[in-house]
Amino acid sequence: MTTREKLRIGLFGYGCVGQGLHDVLNSSRGFKADIIRICVKDRKKRRRIPMSNFTFDKNDILNDPSINLIVELIDDADEAFNIVTTAMKKGKNVVTANKVMVANHFRELVDLQEKHGVSLLYEASAGASIPIIRNLEEYYDNELLHSLRGILNGTTNYVLTRMHNDGTDYSAALKEAQEKGFAESDPTLDVEGWDAKYKLCIITGHAYGLFLDPGEVFHYGINRISTFDIRYAKEKGYKIKLVPFVGKTNENTITSFVLPRFISSDKYLYNVDNEYNGVITEAAFADKQFFSGKGAGGHPTGSAVLSDISANSYGYRYEYKKYQQGTVSNYTRDHKLEIYLRYRNEKDRKLFALKEISEYFSSRQYKYVIGVVNLETLYSLREQLKDLDVFIVNTGRKFPGHPISSR
Ligand code: HSE
Repeated sequence: MTTREKLRIGLFGYGCVGQGLHDVLNSSRGFKADIIRICVKDRKKRRRIPMSNFTFDKNDILNDPSINLIVELIDDADEAFNIVTTAMKKGKNVVTANKVMVANHFRELVDLQEKHGVSLLYEASAGASIPIIRNLEEYYDNELLHSLRGILNGTTNYVLTRMHNDGTDYSAALKEAQEKGFAESDPTLDVEGWDAKYKLCIITGHAYGLFLDPGEVFHYGINRISTFDIRYAKEKGYKIKLVPFVGKTNENTITSFVLPRFISSDKYLYNVDNEYNGVITEAAFADKQFFSGKGAGGHPTGSAVLSDISANSYGYRYEYKKYQQGTVSNYTRDHKLEIYLRYRNEKDRKLFALKEISEYFSSRQYKYVIGVVNLETLYSLREQLKDLDVFIVNTGRKFPGHPISSR
């Protein structure tokens, strides 16, 4: 039996997730961990627990030798990186939920763990309450994973659900998602697809052992969606979901991207609504698996943080098994995608150099076309796309050579 170390926690951040963790810790039976100190930034904010629990100086926690676990739940990714790396260099284990920080410094953080013999756990950073990282590490360690895709952002899924089901306006739905505590402090991270991309990069590290630079991965969000796009999807029996994808294109090469996608009613993701996330894995032996759970919010995210804290108490560390095996070594954007492109100006459409056009519609207000584009072309347009009056949806069409997929 493993001996459980008594945990004395130094917590950074007491926002939505920090408070969620506090609640979850207080209600969990049979597991004892003490939060010794909480470091926060805002001196004026009213707190729901006595001020004696707080400090405004990070060194009060980092230099306290009695604190053996740092839990980092702040918003600022640069400051989070400072705190986390300082703690690791001092030999302290860390639990974090900060996807921006992990995705942007992935390789460095993996190396620091090795160098200082410490553990950094971050299950809450991707899919919140869905234990996808530990599943990839432990269950899929020897699996030939063909692909992984899903819904990894609760805010956009909430907005798309409200628009589709209730005809709610985009801005009103986003406001609701913010009020419910799902959105990032800067919600452009959610709606432009950054958040989903960071999570996808973290997952890719554990699924395939490649620590991708997020800048190399194409992402496109939902901020340009219109009621016309929702109406089109409904008429065809689809929902639009923001779906990150990573998959093999051959034995040692993967591709990945984040794009809105049409989902028909026979697909698992069709009923993943509101702030729920869903992940579908397709593998050689396990075949298809579908995970679903709440992907945002204080308590679901707090539950994942608690699980990491508990894992930490019996010495759990990620082994980065796929990275050790090193079977995947290449990344490509040479990948065919069929897209729905809603646009206004013909010159914008030409930028995409669409092939195999199967549908075309033109009215005074809207035009759309369905055709095939290479992912590399989309990537080369990434800066221009921000200003174009267009909306792109992956139809999900399969091409020979694509990783297998049925539902
Ligand atoms: N803003 C994120 C989301 C929070 O909406 O999914 C959870 O990572």
